[in-house]
Amino acid sequence: MKKRKNIITVAIDSPAAAGAGTQAKLISKYYNLFYLDTGKIYRYIGKLKLQNKKKFSYNLVKKKINSLNIRQLKDNDLLSNNIAISASKIAKDKKIRDIVHKFQQKCAYYPPKKYNGSVLDGRDIITVQIKDAMFKFYITASLEVRAKRRFQEFKDLKKKITYKEVLKTLKIRDKSDKERKYGPLKKTKDSILINTSKLSKKACFKKIRTIMDKKLSY
Ligand code: C5P
Repeated sequence: MKKRKNIITVAIDSPAAAGAGTQAKLISKYYNLFYLDTGKIYRYIGKLKLQNKKKFSYNLVKKKINSLNIRQLKDNDLLSNNIAISASKIAKDKKIRDIVHKFQQKCAYYPPKKYNGSVLDGRDIITVQIKDAMFKFYITASLEVRAKRRFQEFKDLKKKITYKEVLKTLKIRDKSDKERKYGPLKKTKDSILINTSKLSKKACFKKIRTIMDKKLSY
């Protein structure tokens, strides 16, 4: 696989709704990096599965991912709870993960020329996707804080769901994402832990920037 030389690579792993997406976007803007929210790819496939119960196959997924345009991942539908559950189920499948792997590798190591590098967030970015990333962050927050944040996001999107349902879904997804056989979510020794439970978005980004600037100015 073609790799661009001297680029900045940032890998972030986190459980759902811990604030990783927000931080990844801030990092991408500040350092001019290509951003890929890898959860959206699994959500896209999760939606495909819900819409094509009978026709769903590895070939269909391969075809769709090979011709996937990043803009298709901006679909607001992908944020729904049903799709998140479906995504978490299909994400256990090794063959699906292998198809997604290729797409992610291209984004991580060969981002468009106008960017200084890439930032990817997900569950297995540090452990599988970009093992040699220049920066590795494990972003987390307590289950209750995450559920409150996700509930607020749903409210803002006018999606009908109770706090209890959000909490329950996060618990189920946490368990599934951490205990699955392929690409489980876990913190590696060499990644930097950022707990956002009591940190504002700004304070959290300041922490990350201090770490990144220190290394980049060497
Ligand atoms: O991050 P997000 O909540 O959008 O991810 C949806 C689901 O996709 C997760 O619960 C997880 O099962 C799966 N996922 C994954 N590996 C990634 C990113 C997401 O398995 N790198």
